[in-house]
Amino acid sequence: MADLQALREEAESAIASASSAGELEELRVRYLGRKSLLTQTLRGIGELPAEERGPVGKTANAVRVALEELLGRRTEELEAGELDAKLAQDRIDVTLPGHPPSPAGHLHLVTHTRREMEDIFIGLGFNVVEGPEVEFDHYNFTTLNIPPNHPARALQDTFYLSPDVVLRTHTSPMQTRSMEIQPPPIYIVVPGRVYRRDSDASHTPMFHQLEGLAVDEDITLADLRGILLEFARAMFGAEREVRLRSGYFPFTEPSVEVDISCFNCGGSGYLRDGSRDSLCKGSGWIEILGSGMVDPNVYGFVSDMGYDAERVSGFAFGMGIDRIAMLKYGVPDLRMMFENDMRFLEQF
Ligand code: PHE
Repeated sequence: MADLQALREEAESAIASASSAGELEELRVRYLGRKSLLTQTLRGIGELPAEERGPVGKTANAVRVALEELLGRRTEELEAGELDAKLAQDRIDVTLPGHPPSPAGHLHLVTHTRREMEDIFIGLGFNVVEGPEVEFDHYNFTTLNIPPNHPARALQDTFYLSPDVVLRTHTSPMQTRSMEIQPPPIYIVVPGRVYRRDSDASHTPMFHQLEGLAVDEDITLADLRGILLEFARAMFGAEREVRLRSGYFPFTEPSVEVDISCFNCGGSGYLRDGSRDSLCKGSGWIEILGSGMVDPNVYGFVSDMGYDAERVSGFAFGMGIDRIAMLKYGVPDLRMMFENDMRFLEQF
């Protein structure tokens, strides 16, 4: 009986001071396992003198029950503590930078340039709208005063999807589409992809344009010039000048090609070391877009929205977004824009 009492005390203090679930399991084996003193005692009860069997059996059982209970409680406590410690250790600090933390990437040069151009025109009072890349012949050509036999409709320039559906060859179809749903005044720019069957260092089958259209009362060629001068200066530097040369587009009359003074040589055509500037080919001017005053025949397709050449006038222009980016960032070959070579893209 004294041994059992001593065993109980020893076991209780060992269990109380155990510091892990593994340690408790060892103690359970030691004190309650098959070879433990307690189990041996309970098994050997029958060999005891008859009057001792009752009290020893009772005490041994009480010790077993007490130790089992204590072990159960300590196991729960320790397991909860171990879980808490594990959770604390595994906690993720969501405020730490991602892994790998450095290269988050950035916008493609064309996207960046498009947004820069949009911002400039938004600042000048224009709205940004977009239109379909799969377009009816009607909007791509007919409403732009391009008659059925015009060479621009020839197969080598245009991707036809069916006899009257094309991949738009320019953003100009959005001129009529926009005027069809909005009466004058209208001030819009239209960025987007356009498609032509063409491929070399300065042509790709897909490229990007930004169309501009302004129709209001008393709009003149001087307004076109002023807007484009503002654009040229915002994009290429405050010292830029613009030059209008006469040109031809079926949907503008008069039509003008617009050049900006060369930002590489300052407009002289020659570099500081006296050599000829190859960017502007020594001319001091760089062509950046086509434009003109909206032809009255175009208004004819949207007259029921209040477009009357006797009452309103306007200008339109179209420029290559990729070309602007090439000029501004010195990209020598348009195809580089669309090859997705990271060594190229990461530079901008
Ligand atoms: N759409 C013409 C082109 O793609 C450019 C242009 C737009 C010309 C608007 C005049 C007016 O070449």
